[in-house]
Amino acid sequence: MVTTVGNETELDELVEDLVKLDFAAIEAYDAAIERLSKPEYQRQMREFCDDHRDHTQVLGTWLREHGRTPPDSGGAKQLLTKGKVIIAGLAGDKPVLQAMKSNEDDTNIAYERAIKHEEADGLRPVFEKNLSDERRHRAWIESAIAML
Ligand SMILES: [Fe+2]
Ligand SMILES: [Fe+2]
Repeated sequence: MVTTVGNETELDELVEDLVKLDFAAIEAYDAAIERLSKPEYQRQMREFCDDHRDHTQVLGTWLREHGRTPPDSGGAKQLLTKGKVIIAGLAGDKPVLQAMKSNEDDTNIAYERAIKHEEADGLRPVFEKNLSDERRHRAWIESAIAML
C-alpha cells in the first residue's frame, strides 16, 4: 500500500496529514532504532528521526498560525507501508532497513505531491526542504542495504 498523503484538496488538510505522516515516521524510526544492531546505523537513523521531528514542528507552527491544532502523533490510521507495528515484528538489520526504505518511499511521494499543490505558495520552500531531507534519508538507507 502506497500512502495517499499528499492528495488532499485543502492545503490545511494536506499539512495536517503531512504532520501525521512525519509522526508515523518518527514512531517507525523509534521501533527501527531499537531493532538495529549496528551503532552506526542507530546513530544515522536518530539523525533522520530528528529531521522528521523538525518537519512536525515547522508544519505544526504553520497549522497553529492558521487556527488549527497540530496532530501530536501518527494517529490510528496506517499511513506508512511499514509502520511501527510491522517494524516491531522484524528481526535483522536488512529487513528493518528494507522496511524503513519503503516508509521513505512514502514520505518522498507525499512531499513530491505537496510541492505540486496549487495553493502551496509560501509553504513550497518548506515542502522542498522536507523533500530534500526525505530524499537524503532514502538514499542513505538504499546504500546501506546495498552493502549488506
Ligand atoms: Fe519527514
Ligand atoms: Fe525521512
